[in-house]
Amino acid sequence: MNIELNVLDRQYNMYKNDYDKAVLEVLESGYYIMGPRLECFESHYSKYLNIKYCVGLNSGLDALVLAIRALDLSEGDEIIVPANTYIATVLGITENGAKPVFVEPNEYYNIDPNKIEAYITEKTKAILVVHLYGQTCEMDKIIEISKKHHLYLLEDCAQSHGAKYKGKMTGTFGDIGCFSFYPTKNLGAFGDAGAIVTNNIDLYNKIKMLRNYGSNKKYYFEYEGINSRLDEVQAALLDIKLSHLDELTSDRKKIANRYLDEIKNDNIILPLVQVNCEHVWHLFVIRTKERNKFQQYLLDNGIKTQIHYPIPPHLSKCYEGLDYKKGDFPITEKYSNDIISLPLYNFMTDDEISYVVEIVNKYKG
Ligand SMILES: Cc1ncc(COP(=O)(O)O)c(C=O)c1O
Repeated sequence: MNIELNVLDRQYNMYKNDYDKAVLEVLESGYYIMGPRLECFESHYSKYLNIKYCVGLNSGLDALVLAIRALDLSEGDEIIVPANTYIATVLGITENGAKPVFVEPNEYYNIDPNKIEAYITEKTKAILVVHLYGQTCEMDKIIEISKKHHLYLLEDCAQSHGAKYKGKMTGTFGDIGCFSFYPTKNLGAFGDAGAIVTNNIDLYNKIKMLRNYGSNKKYYFEYEGINSRLDEVQAALLDIKLSHLDELTSDRKKIANRYLDEIKNDNIILPLVQVNCEHVWHLFVIRTKERNKFQQYLLDNGIKTQIHYPIPPHLSKCYEGLDYKKGDFPITEKYSNDIISLPLYNFMTDDEISYVVEIVNKYKG
């Protein structure tokens, strides 16, 4: 059996009639940018999250860049960020000229709240957390630290749509929540897309301008903005997918629970779910000592996998200038050597899940 890491057309085919109809309606409407579908999606997504405002953008990276820009954080400012994250989280900081200050993860792969305070200096202005792989961070402790030190709190929710911590959705804990709707995400568009959410009307108004060249009145420019407008086709498609997000999340949980229950192999470390921290299983990440050998074994048996991520940001070539070296963040570096993501996507069949379990369980190490 051949199993891809991700199969997206099954989701399309599941709701095909609605998607096709929506796209045709946009095409026939003559409104392609900043029209009613964008407003509709923004309103539905903010309602879904139980937050006041949502601004649709071109990507998750733009969401991070504009969130930090809206808070006027730039050169000379330090932002606490997990060492174990995707590069985009860090690019959002450095694109604004601010400095990322990395903190090691805990055993749940998220930023370790107990290690944050040691990195706070008088230059620290914000904590940017990432709910990695779909599991929420331990928000109580992080909120307490941000309040104690008067820091902005930002959330990178690119992998955590619909995940709740103590019943509250990710993206709604801090000053700004940043979302990616990249096609493979739990709430994925059919192209690039993203959004920020906030309860702060001033930040909302500013980010709305920043996404549109810094203007809210045609040809009057208040800020040095960019072009990052979520188009009508993507907004209409996202609105349909949003209406199915809860069932899509349940489907992911069903697959993850089968893996958790049925994978039994001493060579494999399964993911842990922390108390109060919901996991929406954007990725199912396991660990094993000889990861590359295991990956090749799976491939030989027709199963495709990915490493999220093989090189941590502090060791990435693009950040050579930050002067980090191997060994600076040993937990993050060890994870990047040992982790591997198993196939997990919506509408994976029972037979496909069983096959992955069978092959993983047969691995001899
Ligand atoms: C944690 C994280 N942050 C940010 C991003 C950036 O999102 P996008 O690809 O939409 O720019 C991604 C996704 O790629 C991500 O996984």
